[in-house]
Amino acid sequence: MVDLMGGGSGGPESGADARQFAAATLRNREPILAVLDRVMPPEGTILEIGSGSGEHAVYFAPRLEGRHWLPSDAAPDKRMSIAAWIEAEPADNILKPVNIDTCTHHWTVERVIPSPRIVAIASMNMIHIAPWRACLGLMAGAARILKRGHILYLYGPFFRDGIQTAPSNESFDDRLQVENPEWGIRDLETVADAASSQGLDLAEVVEMPANNLSVIFRRA
Ligand SMILES: C[S@@+](CC[C@H](N)C(=O)[O-])C[C@H]1O[C@@H](n2cnc3c(N)ncnc32)[C@H](O)[C@@H]1O
Repeated sequence: MVDLMGGGSGGPESGADARQFAAATLRNREPILAVLDRVMPPEGTILEIGSGSGEHAVYFAPRLEGRHWLPSDAAPDKRMSIAAWIEAEPADNILKPVNIDTCTHHWTVERVIPSPRIVAIASMNMIHIAPWRACLGLMAGAARILKRGHILYLYGPFFRDGIQTAPSNESFDDRLQVENPEWGIRDLETVADAASSQGLDLAEVVEMPANNLSVIFRRA
């Protein structure tokens, strides 16, 4: 399989440790954390969608004092990896991973965790490695869960006005579509339109290293 995590991901060599490793998380976690710490509300629960290996979750949670971090993923092996990372690197404010697939209708957290008081949703590197309906489902779910003023944070590569802004993103997009024709780098304006139709206003775009963006939406 093509390495679409940007630097190698793998599973354990024995079944004893379910932790997976995505090298890109080591490179992007500090710049992402700096934005999260600035834009996230000072308290409440941040729901992460598509947590993957769980390395971001265990890194961010103890560094985002005052907030709780709730990781999730649609894939069982990812949820096992997240749980294994939490076991290896526990923090008081990280919750057990939950099963959320944004492609399912009316996904919600209340079914799995009563009253989580979610004040923000964060999703890193998910919407381009999933069908477009995963992004639409993320927006619809964010609109259901978030209250006025709450944040939806996206991180990853984007095209702008349909323009392939960096050669590295262009070849990455080609590789994604070879892997799965339903995947592909999304156009920021198209994503913003989908968000807007759900009452999520584009609040800020932050240029990040390696031609990625942080995109912050606020629930109107
Ligand atoms: C490329 S990985 C990114 C993982 C992590 N956020 C990171 O930045 O390293 C994308 C993750 O999204 C998950 N995913 C894909 N489609 C999803 C969906 N519709 N709902 C929830 N998670 C999804 C995959 O299982 C995978 O773990």
